[in-house]
Amino acid sequence: MESFYNKSDWGWEDNFKLKELTDKDARFLIVRDSTDKIVGFSHFRFDMESNYPILYCYELQIENAIQRKGVGKHLMSILTLIAYKFKLVKILLTVFKDNTAGLNFYRNSLHFGRDESCPYDEEGKCYLILRKSIDKAEISNIKC
Ligand SMILES: CC(C)(COP(=O)(O)OP(=O)(O)OC[C@H]1O[C@@H](n2cnc3c(N)ncnc32)[C@H](O)[C@@H]1OP(=O)(O)O)[C@@H](O)C(=O)NCCC(=O)NCCS
Repeated sequence: MESFYNKSDWGWEDNFKLKELTDKDARFLIVRDSTDKIVGFSHFRFDMESNYPILYCYELQIENAIQRKGVGKHLMSILTLIAYKFKLVKILLTVFKDNTAGLNFYRNSLHFGRDESCPYDEEGKCYLILRKSIDKAEISNIKC
C-alpha cells in the first residue's frame, strides 16, 4: 500500500504506520501459508460512530501471488461474521480513489456503498469511505 499512500495527500511514514498497527485497539486476522509464512492480513477495530457500534476495517492486504483466489473475500466474510456476532451495525473502511482493484473488490464484488461520512467528490479528497450494513439474510449465506 506504500505506493498508494505516497501518491496521495497523506504520504507514507513508517513510524505512523507502525503506531497504527501496534495500537492497543488494533485487531488482526492473519493468513499463513503451509510454511507458516504470513501471506495476508486484515487490521480491524471495534469502534463507535454516532453512538452506534461498528467494525472499521483499517487494512486488508493479500500477497500478490495469492490474489484473485478468494482469500480477500473470505477474510471480509469473517469480518462480517464477527460484526454480526458482536451486534455491530456496519463495516466501514477507507479506500484510495485510485485503487481500482480495491474499489472493484469492495464495490462491485462485495457490494459496499458510500457511507454518509464519505466526502463529496467536489471536496477533491483522495479517498472514499465505504460501508456495508450487517444484513442477517446475508449472514446465513456465508460459508466459511
Ligand atoms: C484488493 C484485495 C484485498 C482483494 O483480495 P483478493 O484475495 O485478491 O480478492 P478475491 O479473490 O477475494 O476477489 C473477489 C472479487 O473481487 C474482485 N477483484 C479482486 N481483485 C481484483 C482486481 N485486481 N481487479 C479487478 N477486480 C478484482 C473480483 O470481482 C474478484 O472476483 P473474481 O476473481 O472471481 O473475478 C487484494 O488484491 C489486495 O491485497 N490488494 C492490495 C492491497 C489493497 O488494495 N487492499 C484493499 C484496500 S485497503
